[in-house]
Amino acid sequence: MPPSTFPETVLRTDRLVLRPFTADDVADTQRACSDELTQRWLPLPSPHTLDHASSWCTEISHHLRTSGDGIHFAITDAATGQLLGTVGLKKTDWPALVSEVGYWIAPWARGRGTAAEAARTVGEWLLRQQSFQRLVLFAATGNTASQRVAEKAGFQREGLLRNAGYIHGGRVDLFGYSLIPADLNGT
Ligand SMILES: CC(C)(COP(=O)(O)OP(=O)(O)OC[C@H]1O[C@@H](n2cnc3c(N)ncnc32)[C@H](O)[C@@H]1OP(=O)(O)O)[C@@H](O)C(=O)NCCC(=O)NCCS
Repeated sequence: MPPSTFPETVLRTDRLVLRPFTADDVADTQRACSDELTQRWLPLPSPHTLDHASSWCTEISHHLRTSGDGIHFAITDAATGQLLGTVGLKKTDWPALVSEVGYWIAPWARGRGTAAEAARTVGEWLLRQQSFQRLVLFAATGNTASQRVAEKAGFQREGLLRNAGYIHGGRVDLFGYSLIPADLNGT
């Protein structure tokens, strides 16, 4: 049986367009993934070369959708088309209808609430349009900005996962969050 997959999708808010990555995103993706804060909290290749960014934008991010693992969006500015970051779903459990969200925002786009808006948009699409039952999010206990993103996007903190994360600096404890259909009531 072929794996379940998410359909190729574009999501829009007033100020953001979430769309698949293309070859035009390679240079900005390489710059954003080389950023110190991105490298601090995500176990991305280091140094992050143009080849890494090219593989991600043109092959890996698309393969992760067609394989059934999830779906990865380039977050872009609706007015200018500039790449602002990424938000994606991974480790999707199709029988359980559970997936996990992750994100980074490029250093030139931080400080405008973009990750929370993008995570909420993907969460609403997953739980409403794709009929999923649970979206999880993990943030290192030291990553206060990401915890704030989770809260602003409407996720509820469920607890502490000891030694569950790995970043370049070593193992870290993670706070676990979830968004479920009941959290969307009234929105
Ligand atoms: C986490 C990240 C995606 C947030 O980017 P963003 O959407 O631009 O977030 P903002 O700067 O708008 O901040 C979101 C919230 O966190 C707060 N925040 C940001 N940096 C913070 C810091 N260093 N310490 C405490 N709070 C911080 C902001 O004040 C804001 O909360 P508020 O609206 O209540 O004031 C971005 O910092 C990033 O890409 N980090 C590196 C990669 C990463 O950590 N990914 C997530 C892994 S789980």
